[in-house]
Amino acid sequence: MERSGLRRFWDSSVGKKIVMGATGLILVAFVIGHMAGNLQFFSGPARFNAYSHLLQVDVIELTWLLRVTLLASVVLHVIAAYQLTMQNRAARPADYVRREPQVSTYAARTMRWGGVYLLLFIPYHLLHFTTGTLHPAFVRGEAYGNVVIGFQTMWVALFYLGAMAFLALHLYHGAWAAFRTLGIARPSNDPLHRRLALAIAVIVPAGFSLLPLSVMLGFIR
Ligand code: HEM
Repeated sequence: MERSGLRRFWDSSVGKKIVMGATGLILVAFVIGHMAGNLQFFSGPARFNAYSHLLQVDVIELTWLLRVTLLASVVLHVIAAYQLTMQNRAARPADYVRREPQVSTYAARTMRWGGVYLLLFIPYHLLHFTTGTLHPAFVRGEAYGNVVIGFQTMWVALFYLGAMAFLALHLYHGAWAAFRTLGIARPSNDPLHRRLALAIAVIVPAGFSLLPLSVMLGFIR
């Protein structure tokens, strides 16, 4: 049976890498926006709650569009990653001497486990701050109080900080790999794109981490 163009694209490893890169960049854009929005936390409860209200009530249709786009991106990103991993394994003979790839950074080697940690983090995070199901004292519409109380539990704050460490590694390798796959960077180790990936990988997790850290260290009660 003749396979459609889309099917052939998905079945090729280049096609899957393009899907990973494109969905990855959608997710990068989201985390940059989410981190920037979260910094309103330091403007106090009124501003932070108003921002949350805007997303949950005033522009709820847009929020749903965002949710569907994010969910589809995560699903495609994970399936492509899983299938590429399986293809690579199948292509490697069983008695092949195990060796590290020649160009490999710590970030590149932690993509899989870091990805799994983030995959556990995201549903926990939604049940924690969006639905409140796993929050000890959730009040709808009171995002500021929910965050403060949420991070007063030490292991929860540490779990978030762990996720931010993996997010940093994932963003560093992922943003750079996406730039290369999508042809934004030249096929050399273009230092400019490495630097851009590094800047995203440092600034986004650092900005996010300010929230749990400020509560853990008692600056915000
Ligand atoms: C320290 C780090 C983070 C903090 C403090 C934080 C905080 C929050 C808060 C308070 C909400 C609820 C907002 C509201 O009530 O409108 C939220 C929603 C959300 N967060 Fe985070 N977040 C963090 C990291 C992340 C990361 C790394 C991701 C993705 C990888 C993420 C994805 C989401 C998503 C998808 C929503 C749901 C938006 C919606 O559908 O309404 N968050 N976050």
